[in-house]
Amino acid sequence: MTSTATSFPLSFSLTPSTDARAEAEREAILADPGFGKHFTDHMVSVEWTLDGGWHDAQVLPYGPISLDPAASVLHYAQEIFEGLKAYRHADGSIHTFRPEANAARLQRSAQRLALPELSTEDFIESLRQLVAVDGSWVPDAPETSLYLRPFMFATESFLGVRSAQKVGYYLIASPAGAYFSNGVSPVNIWLSTDYNRAGRGGMGAAKTGGNYASSLLPQELAYEKGCAQVLFLDSQEGKYLEELGGMNLFLVYKDGTLVTPESDSILSGITRDSIMTLARDRGHNVEIRKVEIEEWKAGSASGDIVEVFACGTAAVITPVAQLLADDFALGSADAPAGELTMSLRQELTDIQYGRIPDTHNWLTRLDA
Ligand code: PLP
Ligand code: COI
Repeated sequence: MTSTATSFPLSFSLTPSTDARAEAEREAILADPGFGKHFTDHMVSVEWTLDGGWHDAQVLPYGPISLDPAASVLHYAQEIFEGLKAYRHADGSIHTFRPEANAARLQRSAQRLALPELSTEDFIESLRQLVAVDGSWVPDAPETSLYLRPFMFATESFLGVRSAQKVGYYLIASPAGAYFSNGVSPVNIWLSTDYNRAGRGGMGAAKTGGNYASSLLPQELAYEKGCAQVLFLDSQEGKYLEELGGMNLFLVYKDGTLVTPESDSILSGITRDSIMTLARDRGHNVEIRKVEIEEWKAGSASGDIVEVFACGTAAVITPVAQLLADDFALGSADAPAGELTMSLRQELTDIQYGRIPDTHNWLTRLDA
């Protein structure tokens, strides 16, 4: 396996865009950014080779990447990515949330996908470099942010099946409003029983494109049922909750206990981890353990489970109204957002936007 972290920090060259959007155009985009539709004027690229390690770090105009048709990512999907956000605070400064956790997860994903590791220092420096040129793309309207998408893939032209000896790391950025078109209103989710996302020993814990490719068909089925996301069960027994296509899940019990599924085939969410800390700080009992779908059914019938929510960088904290399955439904489509759900959301976003003190030292300032 190829796994070389640079031993000294990268130094980035800058080629400014000659085609940057005019202020009026940028402001029009920032006024209604949606999610993942618009991109800033620049991007970061860094190359890795087996012989040379990480090198050629650049900030360059945003634009197409030229790839040889034999680039191995196009054939064998050797690819990983991350997602985090830059938030504008009231004083204009720009901060991101727990970037060292994203860097560590990218390193774990790299290990699983036999890609080279990028050091935490270089990862965070790439964020700073992009924000240094595209900081004006961080919106300031409430609940908006600049979504940062670091990704890495095999660029070597080679059709033999082995880990690539040439790899690219990139970072692009996209101004973001709410992930779901209905904002923070409760969403319905669809239980997939025909399809799984990941299995034992597979790549479920890695943030790799293949996991999302496998979720697209069940996600389509969810849309057909009027649901915003798909819920996966474990692939071995088909009875334990795993996660949604792009989010983790929490159940809230009436005694205030929060429960989130434990599994080594799901993504270890940074939002999930932060919520566990915030809830424990408030004195809630928080359990990370295996959760059977039957437990949700029983808790819903008895009234013991009083709130359910999804969480992730893109979704923040999104209340779940109803779980729909082929042969049952839990909750109700018009269920209001849960009180604890919304108060945790408020606290988390208050920290991210600098409205309350960052007592856990979760924020990293990017523009200074
Ligand atoms: N699970 C999946 C499959 C995801 O894609 C995401 C989003 O990144 C999450 C969970 C939540 O992770 P995080 O809170 O780190 O964004
Ligand atoms: C994120 O929340 O950052 C993700 O990668 C999830 C994706 C569905 C946008």
